[in-house]
Amino acid sequence: RKTKVGIIGGGPSGLLLSQLLDLKGIDNVVLEKHSRDYVLGRIRAGVLEHGFAALMREAQCGERMDREGEIHEGFFIAHDGVKDRVDLHKHTGGNSVMVYGQTELTRDLYEARDKMGGEVIHEALDVTPHDLTSDAPWLTYRLGDDQYRIDCDYIVGADGFHGVSRKSIPKEVLTEYEKVYPFGWLGVLSRTKPVSPELIYAKTERGFALCSLRSQVLSRYYIQVPLTDRVEDWSDEAFWAELKARLPQDVAEALITGPSIEKSIAPLRSFVAEPMRYGNLFLAGDAAHIVPPTGARGLNSAASDIYYLYHALMDHYLKGDDAGLESYSEKALARVWKAQRFSWWMTSMLHSFPENSTYDRRLQQTELEYLMSSEAAMTSLAENYVGLPF
Ligand code: FAD
Ligand code: DHB
Repeated sequence: RKTKVGIIGGGPSGLLLSQLLDLKGIDNVVLEKHSRDYVLGRIRAGVLEHGFAALMREAQCGERMDREGEIHEGFFIAHDGVKDRVDLHKHTGGNSVMVYGQTELTRDLYEARDKMGGEVIHEALDVTPHDLTSDAPWLTYRLGDDQYRIDCDYIVGADGFHGVSRKSIPKEVLTEYEKVYPFGWLGVLSRTKPVSPELIYAKTERGFALCSLRSQVLSRYYIQVPLTDRVEDWSDEAFWAELKARLPQDVAEALITGPSIEKSIAPLRSFVAEPMRYGNLFLAGDAAHIVPPTGARGLNSAASDIYYLYHALMDHYLKGDDAGLESYSEKALARVWKAQRFSWWMTSMLHSFPENSTYDRRLQQTELEYLMSSEAAMTSLAENYVGLPF
């Protein structure tokens, strides 16, 4: 089989690029290691930037998102027993975010790929890229006992943090930057009415907590936990009790609890690999960079990579112009690093760091006080949260 663009990874990055390219008549194949049910079973992001929502519409995948997703014009930061609102609408000149689950978005992308007859190969094992610095890179993979080969013009590595793409780049070419945080997020999904119509990010002495949602009947809550904790250690009852202890009293009293339908721990990490191109391999999304989830940037950073890559590949195939491909890594990384900075800042301001001195703690408290007292600081938070321009 020969194709123009071979895409490794059928997560949101790979599927969105596949769909956008196909709509422009640019042939591509997606190789996904897991089954569709497995991919759709992962509960992850929930907050989309305006620019991402626009890209979903361009991919002709925005219908259900526009019908069922919620526009949020603000969120709350709870601290010291009070709740302060961040007015995104006011501080960005009318911008907002879309609350729509990554699971739903991925389902929409799969359905769109099905409808167009897009080739998404599931349970593709041992995916291996070859001859990346040649004009004719190729991919091999295995389905059961059968081996296959796909010849490509370009290969896109959209296979997440643990994928094979980044690992195929020689060590001496790649610079990796990493920061590992000494805690994780324990997340619970429950079929209960959300405690607040808008998200609440809470900073307390006991640690960080987040009240989020997927719809008016589906809630998503997180609490900061030590890395040594295991999911099995946390009963539903213990989770709800700890969450309540980290919320202002009126919020805790209003919280409706119920059985968890998903419970998992995600460690917090910041990571960037540079450059995002090696020969004719282009990295996108979590394959190249990870942020701690606090600023809701991860999926959105993946989408901005896809935006740049889509335009670059379109210029190449439809106009014979390679400028976009040449500048892809530099352009994508400029935005990626700003998302890194913002995610690090939000994480640092709102979590408990066991190693912090009393000085560090007072400074952290002052960061929050400054934010709540300064229009300029609020504007900076708001413009980053809704997403910087592509
Ligand atoms: P992935 O979603 O990781 O997709 C990669 C795909 O490649 C997977 O399907 C995988 O099975 C496949 N794959 C892996 N290896 C191979 C291989 N060798 N061969 C073939 N296929 C392979 N982001 C936000 O923007 N907002 C949020 O609110 C937010 N909240 C989050 C909360 C949690 C708890 C977590 C864990 C993440 C959150 N994120 C959030 C981050 C977001 O989920 C990721 O950034 C996003 O999934 C990245 O998409 P991707 O397609 O690049 O990678
Ligand atoms: C969610 C996750 C986040 O990291 C965040 O900042 C906001 C919401 C969520 O899963 O709903």
